[in-house]
Amino acid sequence: MTVTIVGSQLGDEGKGGVVDLYGDAADVVARYQGGDNAGHTVVYDGEKYKLSLVPSGAVRGKVGVLGNGCVVNPETLFSEIDGLRERGLEPDVRVAERAHAILPYHCVLDGIEEDAKDGLAAGTTKRGIGPTYEDKAGRRGVRIGDLLDPETLRTRLEYVVPQKQALAEEVFGIETGEEFDVEYLYDTCLEYGERLAEEEMTVDAGTFLQERIDAGENVMLEGAQGTSIDIDHGVYPYVTSSNPTAGGACVGTGLGPTVVGSGDVIGIVKAYLSRVGTGPLPTELGGVEGQTPAYEGGDDSPEEELATYIRNEGGEYGTVTGRPRRVGWLDMPMLRHAARASGFTGLAINHIDVLAGLEEVEVGHAYEFDGEEIFTVPPTTEKWGRCEAIYRTFEGWDEVDWRAVAEEGYDAIPDNAQTYLEYIADELDTPIYAIGVGPAREETIVLENPFDA
Ligand code: GDP
Ligand code: IMO
Ligand code: MG
Repeated sequence: MTVTIVGSQLGDEGKGGVVDLYGDAADVVARYQGGDNAGHTVVYDGEKYKLSLVPSGAVRGKVGVLGNGCVVNPETLFSEIDGLRERGLEPDVRVAERAHAILPYHCVLDGIEEDAKDGLAAGTTKRGIGPTYEDKAGRRGVRIGDLLDPETLRTRLEYVVPQKQALAEEVFGIETGEEFDVEYLYDTCLEYGERLAEEEMTVDAGTFLQERIDAGENVMLEGAQGTSIDIDHGVYPYVTSSNPTAGGACVGTGLGPTVVGSGDVIGIVKAYLSRVGTGPLPTELGGVEGQTPAYEGGDDSPEEELATYIRNEGGEYGTVTGRPRRVGWLDMPMLRHAARASGFTGLAINHIDVLAGLEEVEVGHAYEFDGEEIFTVPPTTEKWGRCEAIYRTFEGWDEVDWRAVAEEGYDAIPDNAQTYLEYIADELDTPIYAIGVGPAREETIVLENPFDA
């Protein structure tokens, strides 16, 4: 059977932790979209692992698959595998031959296109994600399987690279280097291919996964990013270029919708919002320069203070840049939209410990849009930007010994936090499977294990 893990908001909801939590019963963990724009954290036994491409099951020694829906930068994949090996893990990662390769020119183009976009920039991770998916859709991409086939590889590169070079030089006016040189790329790609072949990493992902399922094994499908940055269902154009929603788990692995749909689809919810990037966020508290639309710097308002409090408690600062992330109250229209788009059968709600100590906790229960009350997100981003949150206020809960709470179970959660959790489950008409009260595996309360069904 399969269990699918989907981000229900804007990414960084704690998906990696949930994959690790339920990973014991899984035999294989497969990513179905995205690439090294993801950063999934697993905290176990005092160790913290930040995984970008290697599926989060690696911490438990599970086989990892990067499905055909992923975009894979072999360079970063290899360095991540090497880094994990140095830390004593033995990542066993298989890569779909149908997955598209992120090549050096994609990363360069991601950077210059973002700079050129100005008001339309999503604030991408500059990992080449968008340009690689563009080439996939434009039928000029280089796939992982091509890296092992010198003749096809040369044909592909000779076709696409001069186009990319012309784009960079003539449209964007930059001077290009080896990233746009066919011979350099050919040699580099062959080296990637050699390592992939040596370590027997390439697979036909759909067949590989289906065979494991037919043999009675459990497969976890690990989504990256989140519903509101899904290219179809998110805040377009401030989105990523793939489908984190559950439909992506089918096309991105080669498993049929009936296979994926016969297992649980778990929506991962952060108890508040965090956002890295631009676009509207009706429940935002305060703002972050360069990301919050029309924001012109902070003041000493209670909202800014709250934002700083939540940001500090939740560690909502960029792991690489240290830049503050945007934060906001939970947004129920956003969650209703996510629950529908992916058909959640269960929820994992994380970070309720982060909100502890606040007198009151607010939730955007609905939006006011052009004088009307609406309960889900409008289809255009311009309309979303005009929505004003209509809040519900919940009494806060105190800081407690969350490890002890996790040990004791649900009833030990402070009453007001229980009320908050039950409100979310009721509104989404979906049961809670797990509650995160801290980053570590043992700081989680499990109410339901989807693999036990
Ligand atoms: P992902 O991208 O969805 O896998 O999430 P990230 O790993 O990028 O971000 C989640 C962050 O919150 C990580 O630092 C996790 O270790 C941490 N985390 C996950 N669950 C909880 C929780 O319940 N409480 C707290 N305080 N931190 C959590
Ligand atoms: P995980 O899997 C949060 C955001 C970027 C940017 C937009 C497009 O860790 O939850 P891209 O590089 O994908 O073209 O950037 O999407 N973004 C994420 N935000 N978590 C992520 O992944 C993200 N991956 C991309 O900040 O706004
Ligand atoms: Mg993340």
